[in-house]
Parts: sequence; structure tokens; C-alpha cells
Amino acid sequence: IFMELIQWADKYLTGFKEIDNQHKGLVILINELFTLMQQGKAKKHLGEIFDHLTDYTKKHFFEEEKMMVKYAYKEYTQHKEEHKKFIEQLAKFKTEFAQNKITISIEMLNFLKQWLLNHILVTDMKYVPHIKQVEINY
Ligand code: FEO
Repeated sequence: IFMELIQWADKYLTGFKEIDNQHKGLVILINELFTLMQQGKAKKHLGEIFDHLTDYTKKHFFEEEKMMVKYAYKEYTQHKEEHKKFIEQLAKFKTEFAQNKITISIEMLNFLKQWLLNHILVTDMKYVPHIKQVEINY
């Protein structure tokens, strides 16, 4: 039995079901990469899960950005910029990984973990009161 890299906690809940499910999905994929890495699984397998993580992240960001636009969230631009930078970082990891310059390491996984949890707790949580307020006024 391997330990999970990220333990989900209620403090990560935004209260928006779809968003929360997507965040949980991202946690599951990062944990899966961690488990595969510990088991010393083949590069090909890790590469596939990494691609899946990238696709799923893009899908989540797209959905979240759509929601922010819908509710005319004023910090949309900065938020979107954070998303963009993270996708660029994932692409960079992917290239280096494909060129055998790096391996999927604990340092990389810790970066993904720290980025995701910090983004949820700080950046995502900022839109929560705004969207709830708009919903009340409907
Ligand atoms: Fe849930 Fe801004 O990512």
C-alpha cells in the first residue's frame, strides 16, 4: 500500500459541484502519477497519465473560465493568466520528459501538488463569494 501524495480535504471545496469534481479528478491523476512513479512503472505509462493530466487540466480551466465570464468576475484576466502559465509549465515538462532530459520525479510531483492546492485555496476561492453573490441577486 502506497501513501497518497495529496489527501483531499473539505477546505478545498468551492461549493460548486462541477468544479469540485474536476479538482478531485486532478488530485486523483496526480496521486496516480505518484503511485506509478513509486512502482517504477515504464516511461510510456507515465507519459500517458501525464498527457491525461494535461488534457483534464485544460478541460477544467476551460470550464472554470467559462463560469467566470458568465458571472462577469472582475479578476478573470489574472486568473486566466495563472491557468495559462501552468499549462505552459506542463508542456515544458512534457517536452523535457519526451527528450529524456527529466524523469517524472518527486520534485515535479511536489510542484504539481503545491501549485494545484495553492491555486484552489487562494485563486479559485476568490471567485466563490462573487459568484454566490451574483446567484443570490438573480
Ligand atoms: Fe480550478 Fe483556477 O483552477
